[in-house]
Order: sequence, then C-alpha cells, then structure tokens
Amino acid sequence: MKNKFFLKMDKLDLKILKYLKDKKEIDLSNFSKKTGLSKEKIKNRFKKIEAIYSLHEINEFDVDPTSGKLFAYVYETGEKDLKDIAMEAFNLYAEKNVLDFTVFKSDILFEREIVNFGKKLMHGNENVVGTVTYGGTESIFLAVKAARDRYKKLYGKDKVPEIIAPVTIHPAFLKAADYMVLNIKRVPVNENLKANIESIKESITDKTALIAISAPNWPYGTIDDVKDISDIALDKNIPLHVDSCVGGFILPFFEMLDEKVPPFDFRVPGVSSISLDVHKYGYTTKGASIVLFSSPDYKKFSIYVDSTSPGYLFVNQAVLSSRSVGPFAAAYATIKYLGIDGYKRLAKKVLIARDRIYSGLKELGFRSTGPVESSILSLYSDKVDLLGYAYNMKNKGWHISLQKPVKDYNIPLNIHLTISPVHYRVAQRFIIDSRESISIPSKINMQEIKNLIENGEMGKVVEYLENGSIDSGIIPILLENLPEDIASDLVKDIVIGWFK
Ligand SMILES: Cc1ncc(COP(=O)(O)O)c(C=O)c1O
Repeated sequence: MKNKFFLKMDKLDLKILKYLKDKKEIDLSNFSKKTGLSKEKIKNRFKKIEAIYSLHEINEFDVDPTSGKLFAYVYETGEKDLKDIAMEAFNLYAEKNVLDFTVFKSDILFEREIVNFGKKLMHGNENVVGTVTYGGTESIFLAVKAARDRYKKLYGKDKVPEIIAPVTIHPAFLKAADYMVLNIKRVPVNENLKANIESIKESITDKTALIAISAPNWPYGTIDDVKDISDIALDKNIPLHVDSCVGGFILPFFEMLDEKVPPFDFRVPGVSSISLDVHKYGYTTKGASIVLFSSPDYKKFSIYVDSTSPGYLFVNQAVLSSRSVGPFAAAYATIKYLGIDGYKRLAKKVLIARDRIYSGLKELGFRSTGPVESSILSLYSDKVDLLGYAYNMKNKGWHISLQKPVKDYNIPLNIHLTISPVHYRVAQRFIIDSRESISIPSKINMQEIKNLIENGEMGKVVEYLENGSIDSGIIPILLENLPEDIASDLVKDIVIGWFK
C-alpha cells in the first residue's frame, strides 16, 4: 500500500492503522491520555483511517486495471506521467458542477477544447459542433435524440420513428431506442462482418429517422462501409450516425501511421453525427466522450431546455444534469499533454502489439472472424477449445472475453481482444501463456452450469460468479438457446441477486 495517503501518515495514524490491521478494539481513553488529544479528535482520526483503509482492502477485490492483463474495459498506456496529470486535473475539479457552466466556466473551456480536438480528428468543418458527455452511451443517446426530434419536427409526432442499424451496432442504440420510444430495425452483416448495404436500402421507410453504423464495431472490430451508406442516407435525406466510440481516438492515428483506414468521418458528406470516446483510446479517466453534430441546427435537437419551472433555468446539453467537472478536466489535460504526437506514439504501440498478438495466436491455430481493420481482434479456432483456453488463461491472470456464435452469419464462438498500448509490453508473455493454456485440458463443466441456469438455480450461479469459478463472459453462451425475454429476465435475477 505505497499510496500517498499512507506515506503522509504520522505516528498516531500508523498506530491506528496497526490496530485496524490487527482488528483490535481501540481504547479511546487510553489513546487520549497518551496523546493529549481529546477523545473526539482520536475518534475522528480513527474513522478517517478506517474509511481509507477499507478502500484499500476493497481494492484488492478488483483485477488490476494497469496490469495489461485485461482486453476490454480499460485502455491502459502503462505511462505514469499521463495518469498523474489526469488524476491531478480530476481531483482539482472534482467538486465543481457541470450543471451550471455560467458559474463553473472552466466547463465551457474544457468542453470547447475537447470538442475542437475531436472535431479536428474527425475532419469536421467550421459548422461542426459538439458536446462532451460522460460516456459513449450518453453520446449515442444525444445522437438518437437529435435524430428523433428532427424527424418529429419534419414529419409530425404520430409515427414511431425508426433507427436502421446492423446487428453489430452497440447495444447503447437499442437502449436509447427503448428509453426514447423509437423502433430499431437491425439489418444483417455481409461476409466481411460489415453492414449489408442492400438490407439497409430495403429497410428504409417513411419512418426512418436515423441510420447508425460503426467505425469500428465492438464485437469484430470491422468498419462499416461509411461512404456507400452515406450515399443512401444523402439520397433519402436521412441522418447518418457513425459510432466511433472505440475508433475515434485511434483510427486517425493509424491513418497517420500509413495504415489503410477507409473514410469514416466528416470527410464523408452524408455523416451527420459521430460519437468518439476520450475515455477509451483518448486514455483519460472514465467519464468523457464526445458527440459531434454536422451543424448547430442539428445539435439543437439534442439539447433539453426547460424555462417553465419555478427553480433555475434548466439547460442540459447532455442526459445527466449535475455532474463533476473532474472527468472533463482530466480529458482536457490528457489531450493537452499527449497532443497529436503523443497519440501517434501510443497508436504505434497498439499496432505493434496487435500484430504480435495476432501473428502469435495465428501460429497456435486461431483465425480472425473478419478483416483486421482496427485495434480489435476477434478470433476463432477449429483446433482450440476456446472455453477451456479462456478459463486456463484466467487462472494465469488474463481476462479474455468470449463472444457467442452467431449461426445466422456463420460466426463461430470467438474471443475478443481490444488491444491497448500496455499490451506492447506484455504481448510476448501473453503468447507464451496462450501456448501453455491451449495444451491444458479444460476443467470447466459447462453442462453443470447450463443445468443450474435451466433449473433457475441463480443463487448457485451467483456464487460461482462471485468465487470466480465461472466468468461472466460465458453467461451469454449459456443463455444462447433461451428465448430473448426469458434470457433477459434470468440475467436481471442474477444481477439483483449479486447486488442484494
Ligand atoms: C462501439 C461502441 N460504441 C459505444 C460504446 C459505449 O460506450 P460506453 O461504455 O462509454 O457507454 C462502446 C463501449 O464499449 C463501444 O464499443
């Protein structure tokens, strides 16, 4: 626990810490007598140390996000200076509230700078404007709201507007459609795991409010054919959203490094909004994403204003209202520190790591489900038992997500690896451990877990999840043959049980 807090402790603090570690009752009178401090003061010190100590104890429950052993959730650089700068910014602005940016003007400055950087990366012209949100899902919500409200203004309020998107689209669009009462029509992907263009064309009706595609999508890392889809969108006067939450802060740098990246940003004329996350390949702390709109008029549809309530003038550019300015300060500082050159340097590490891991796993019998076009690998194998492999890797500390097979598109069970700069350092070890893991027989008893789920014994499943005998990654595979509503109900039961 070589944390700043512990380093700053005085003698009394260290004594209290020892009591806590030894789980001994503290005798306030005795402590008070020895130190000359009042019982009240000792009690407060004790409470403070206890609260912080408990945080450090709880911290041990988690996988270390800096270890390089995760291939999702975090985008680790392994660079300490970067982290120090982001945390300094985060702490400095933690107590300020985005809610009223006329009071906390720093928010306006941070958002402007962050949006301008994103706009430059996405080749936006002077009309492009944006909003900084707390995450990709929130950016997507705003893009969907803009499309919905534009549709209602143009075509009236009686129809339920529709979003057309490929099956690979992020679930945030389904969630946004659900929350904001739109229908979503999901179209198939072609053999390259990109949105099927003919199906998009055929799905368009007078209810279509938005076409949403990805650059790249999360499951397979492939980039939809933005140019061809943009032609359709322009022809039919339908807004086109490009979800570049994952790609927005990495693909531009791949392009600068002479990788082949198909056009996906505002250089494509039909693109009307783009989401890109600073808290992914922008490498800031969680809580920062950008949504860009092709014009101020279009952005207007994404803002919520209420001037009728008796309290304050309610102006929300994003979904949430009161929020800490901290994450925006961290995003601003990270962008300022890294700049184009810093991001390019880190993108180079990602490319090298991706290629090392891909070629190493290819030698072990893995194959890519689609073309490798981004920082995401999705790999299957006819030779390797992937469940056993992921399980054995987990015992070596690696966390590998499994993705279920999708029979309709001939996609087999596959593993998902989102590559971060830190993987540059661990790629070799990863391949060595992979080689070992595929040669150890699997201990996982899928049938037993399947039976538990089918018999509704969720308590046992939760217990296995908690003690790490099974990884939450296999749940979708176990639920695969169940009807959608039953599956989601079971998942809700598991989650409620877990949080109880
Ligand atoms: C392609 C894509 N879009 C959107 C999101 C949602 O981002 P967030 O988790 O920040 O809400 C993700 C998250 O991984 C993603 O991969």
